[in-house]
Amino acid sequence: MPPVLKTLISREQIESRVAELAAQINQDYAGQELILVGVLNGAFIFLADLVRQLQLPVRIDFIRLTSYGTAAVSSGEVRIMKDVELPLRDRHVLVVEDIMDSGLTLDFLRRHLLGHRPASLRICCLIDKLERQDVKVPLDYVGFTVPKGFLVGYGLDYAHQYRHCPEICELSLENADPQ
Ligand code: IMP
Ligand code: MG
Repeated sequence: MPPVLKTLISREQIESRVAELAAQINQDYAGQELILVGVLNGAFIFLADLVRQLQLPVRIDFIRLTSYGTAAVSSGEVRIMKDVELPLRDRHVLVVEDIMDSGLTLDFLRRHLLGHRPASLRICCLIDKLERQDVKVPLDYVGFTVPKGFLVGYGLDYAHQYRHCPEICELSLENADPQ
């Protein structure tokens, strides 16, 4: 049996929330330059939509971290697969991430980026999942909070699949064939 997908957040809801986040960021960083650090791969669609609504001088960089492999449960270990390339020292840096689950990835990333001594460091996370949160990481901009579940679509994947789905869906793996 294929996995079951249930729409949780529609295209329209995503679109209007991303516009609200962009408006807030435009206001908060007015008159300043910003470096966005997108977390690959999951944040690529969110970042693309968000950045096109920013009316600030913006530079964009990416980092790729890994903790999940292809399983739906974190291994607990975070490693850098691709580091940032722009100098971050004395810059205003905004991390753009898809989802926070245990918080391990963002906690690691926050410490790593603080090591570059930016002028400021904030985090914009599309989805704050309240289920686990082993580590408390302060999120400055949050798109949606969801109580639990494994989500796919709008950049989020399960085993590298479903990233292109335009809605955010809950994936049910009960009774599903192995991927
Ligand atoms: P954390 O380190 O447990 O907070 O996990 C963060 C990373 O795991 C995110 O950047 C995602 O790539 C991935 N992840 C966590 N929850 C989900 C989910 O529900 N769907 C897809 N990916 C997820
Ligand atoms: Mg991610």
